[in-house]
Amino acid sequence: MKWYKVGSVGEVLPPISKVSVGGKKLCIVNYEGKLFALSARCPHAGADLSEGWCENGKLICPFHRYAYDLETGRGNTGQNDFVPTYKVEIRNNEVYVGIPSFWDSLKGT
Ligand code: FES
Repeated sequence: MKWYKVGSVGEVLPPISKVSVGGKKLCIVNYEGKLFALSARCPHAGADLSEGWCENGKLICPFHRYAYDLETGRGNTGQNDFVPTYKVEIRNNEVYVGIPSFWDSLKGT
């Protein structure tokens, strides 16, 4: 897994920030004092999830209001979809996101 610095804690404290790291566009979500990283592309029709909002631990797509769990990325029942999620760590007041390599995904790490 490769870790990318996405900013300081102060820079990513808005409820939803959009960052580009490791060739991916991600949402960094600050929800109830915890940070989450999810793909910014809605799997339904490609909307930018960073323009959505959070409700009950879920990220809501601004286009058709599909909902994705902030922890797991799973869509609500009946959606049959998900968004990839990524690990987030804070080190020395800097926020890092872990992006697994292709080889990591083959190993299941
Ligand atoms: S594009 Fe996100 S719910 Fe349709």
